[in-house]
Amino acid sequence: MEKFVIEGGRRLSGEIHVSGSKNATLPILAATLLTDGVCEIRNVPKLRDTLTMCKLLRSLGKTVDISGNKVTISGAVNNHEADYKLVSTMRGSFCVLGPLLGKLSKAKVSMPGGCVIGVRPIDLHMKGIMALGVKADFDAGYVIAHAARLKGAQMYLGGTFGSSVLATANVMMAATLAHGETIIECAACEPEIEDLGNFLSAMGAKIQGHGTPRIVINGVKKLNGTSYKMASDRIEAGTFLLMAAATKSDILVKDAHYNHLLALVDKLQSIGAEVKRVGSHDIRVKCKKTLKPANIVTHPHPGFPTDLQAQYMALMAITPGVSIINDRVFPDRFMHIAELNRMGAQIRRDTGVAIVEGVKQLYGAPVMASDLRASAALVMAGLVAKGKTEIYRIYHLDRGYENLDVKLNNIGAKVSREKE
Ligand code: EPZ
Repeated sequence: MEKFVIEGGRRLSGEIHVSGSKNATLPILAATLLTDGVCEIRNVPKLRDTLTMCKLLRSLGKTVDISGNKVTISGAVNNHEADYKLVSTMRGSFCVLGPLLGKLSKAKVSMPGGCVIGVRPIDLHMKGIMALGVKADFDAGYVIAHAARLKGAQMYLGGTFGSSVLATANVMMAATLAHGETIIECAACEPEIEDLGNFLSAMGAKIQGHGTPRIVINGVKKLNGTSYKMASDRIEAGTFLLMAAATKSDILVKDAHYNHLLALVDKLQSIGAEVKRVGSHDIRVKCKKTLKPANIVTHPHPGFPTDLQAQYMALMAITPGVSIINDRVFPDRFMHIAELNRMGAQIRRDTGVAIVEGVKQLYGAPVMASDLRASAALVMAGLVAKGKTEIYRIYHLDRGYENLDVKLNNIGAKVSREKE
């Protein structure tokens, strides 16, 4: 296993490039199950999660060729069983349920396992597919689902915490080959859903409203292969903006969609950082002065993303004053607090929220990564801390950030990847 060793206290400068979106790549790769045609997908991030999805597609009968950031998928799906061994390693693989049902009208998919960021039920996924006439049951840790014929329907897919990204994705994909019209109300509006909708349209699906709370899909008989370029990763871009603010740096984030990050940009500008759109694809962030503390409440898109909550907390940990962090999407997503406090932060939990008292200085220490975004927050803390920080279990980071150490070292950081 590997760890990161970070020498902190350095300003960053220059350009850093954003890779393709992890959370759009997973459903888009799964959507290739809907066609026997050849799909060529470009700008795919080289991540552990992308490889896991490719392994899963191969186990379902697809031929998958990976060359750099391009993935070519061909052949017909010939197996409707998504194995526990693969699904349990990555929750995102549960989004093969919808395309398997759309293409084969049957699916046996392992239920996703537990997750450190909180309780993650699948009731909305089940509600959505059953509205399309699917009979679904749970057996031995698997979802067993089948239908004589999927039939379009109108459904409300809002849950306790609002919309669900992957439930929306699963229903969208199943409905593309269903008979008749499907209307998803309270659909997730995340840019990843918009990207998935664009990919499905490129395959010949009849779909409207993707990226809005109301998605309308008219089923077609067949979908075709296509060639498609992934959008860039807004969470990776947001992480870089927050890293620049925390290290009082001036960097240009290349291939970052400003409109996908409005909640974060608005927050950064309100606390005193300079954030500007440069051309149509880049964002410049400059931060020289001491920032002001500010509270956040996370919400589904276009609200403040839960996947940037931990990184924002790391910024507030070194911002003088008190800020309150409330995660309304994953209320228990606070595994990073204890590790940040090991580095000298002053953060405490209170009912459903975290209260951050900003400190002047963090200090390097050995810390443990617990999940993908918590690890990014620890890297941020390591970049600003006095001395050396060792981050263990960085396999969590490699799940969602492509070559993070290389990218950061190219703009002046000192991060080394070493054996634990
Ligand atoms: C996606 O997960 C992302 N993962 C997550 O990113 C992200 O945190 C999340 O959306 C929210 O933005 C991928 O795209 C692979 P949800 P997803 O269903 O779709 C509740 C990262 O760091 N809910 O939108 O699984 C759920 O418990 C990962 O990259 C139900 O109640 O999340 C949560 O509170 C972590 N019933 C809320 O909805 C359901 O059936 C939103 O979850 C489904 C979800």
